Amino acid sequence: MPLPKAELHLHIEGTLEPELAFELAARNGVRLPYADTEELRKAYLFDDLQSFLDLYYSLMAVLRTEDDFEALAEAYLVRAAAQGVRHAEIFFDPQAHTARGVPIGTVVEGLGRALDRSRERHGVSTALILCFLRDQSAESALETLDAARPHLDRIVGIGLDSAEVGHPPAKFREVYAVADSLGLRKVAHAGEEGPPSYITEALDVLGVERVDHGLRALEDPALVARLVRDRIPLTLCPLSNVRLRAVSELSAHPLRRMMDAGLLCTVNSDDPAYFGGYVGDNFDAVGEALGLSVEDLRVLARNSFLAAFLEGEEGVREG
Ligand code: ADE
Ligand code: ZN
Repeated sequence: MPLPKAELHLHIEGTLEPELAFELAARNGVRLPYADTEELRKAYLFDDLQSFLDLYYSLMAVLRTEDDFEALAEAYLVRAAAQGVRHAEIFFDPQAHTARGVPIGTVVEGLGRALDRSRERHGVSTALILCFLRDQSAESALETLDAARPHLDRIVGIGLDSAEVGHPPAKFREVYAVADSLGLRKVAHAGEEGPPSYITEALDVLGVERVDHGLRALEDPALVARLVRDRIPLTLCPLSNVRLRAVSELSAHPLRRMMDAGLLCTVNSDDPAYFGGYVGDNFDAVGEALGLSVEDLRVLARNSFLAAFLEGEEGVREG
């Protein structure tokens, strides 16, 4: 029995497995520049975040209809449930779809169909987090939040993702303030490739409640002290960090040192179709590489529920 856990850092578009990509490409008449799934998988050799993002955005061309987004989310939920996930807070990137002419309503309603029945069908409660692409303009983020207004009953919070370096959090001060006034929860990727000062800025300027990655936090002792004191959760993604070369190998991952420093760490999968494993695979791999004990793994699983935006009497959002 896998440990029950919550997954808090998962891009739904990053769960697009090659088999589903080819199926949707055929259904939608989209030509992919790969002969087959094997050739596509061979392209999953990344030098850094940007080299991954280039492929990640281009493969999204196959996602066009509500049915496609429903199929994507359903496939993720099946895999997540099998790896012990009981609650998933799921990122999506509306600008990557609206830029291709796919309306945000198609994305949210399609994903929503799978999420609505997830608790009953898979025993997984869910929440959606709308992410802004930080390499797009602040105006585009504001327009995206505006376009999302009719769908806010389905959206628990906002996040910030895509190419980090050169796009510091403060660029998105205004849209985070608007989201806050709408009662949305706030997270942001920070310190994945960018410096620890981006983590500090995400806390100070955006008011984030949880930091996605936060991998480089240990470089700044004052920041570590603050994160520990304020119990700010970090959503770490060990297999992602190796595949995107943020760490040289899993045995060099700072997770153990971060836990020892008293940080509230969680383990997540980020883009599991691209990085070699879902969240349970991340627990297994990092546990093995760092020699984590069963108790350490239990702490990480417990942290995932502590760090979740859970609500309601049972501590779990409906969905
Ligand atoms: N979008 C999807 N995966 C991402 C990651 N690891 N970092 C930033 N943006 C992303
Ligand atoms: Zn991410």
